[in-house]
Amino acid sequence: MCGACTVVVDGEPTSGCHTVAALADGAEVATVEGLSTDPRLRALQEAFIDEGAFQCGFCTSGQLMAAAALVLSGRLATATDEELRTHMLGNLCRCGAYHGIARALHRAREACR
Ligand code: FES
Repeated sequence: MCGACTVVVDGEPTSGCHTVAALADGAEVATVEGLSTDPRLRALQEAFIDEGAFQCGFCTSGQLMAAAALVLSGRLATATDEELRTHMLGNLCRCGAYHGIARALHRAREACR
């Protein structure tokens, strides 16, 4: 329900805890551990750091992966502010760091354009 376990399966953010692993057989699965090796996601990670888009870090991996789905699918550069908010609805932040997360997405979007 919180989105903290979000991974990207075939380009779509997916709750890991609601996904039977066998059903992902043959799919392209990206996890937060894989972010460090994909140069397309560097701007996103830097934006999260620069905007302080986390406090406790409980939700950060899920927030990053939901945002990464936008980058990997090529949708981030053209997403409107409303589309960004709607896309991130499945990820809850208990600390209320949403403003920083939104600023990070806007910064990453500008870097993609
Ligand atoms: S930064 Fe604390 S739950 Fe998101």
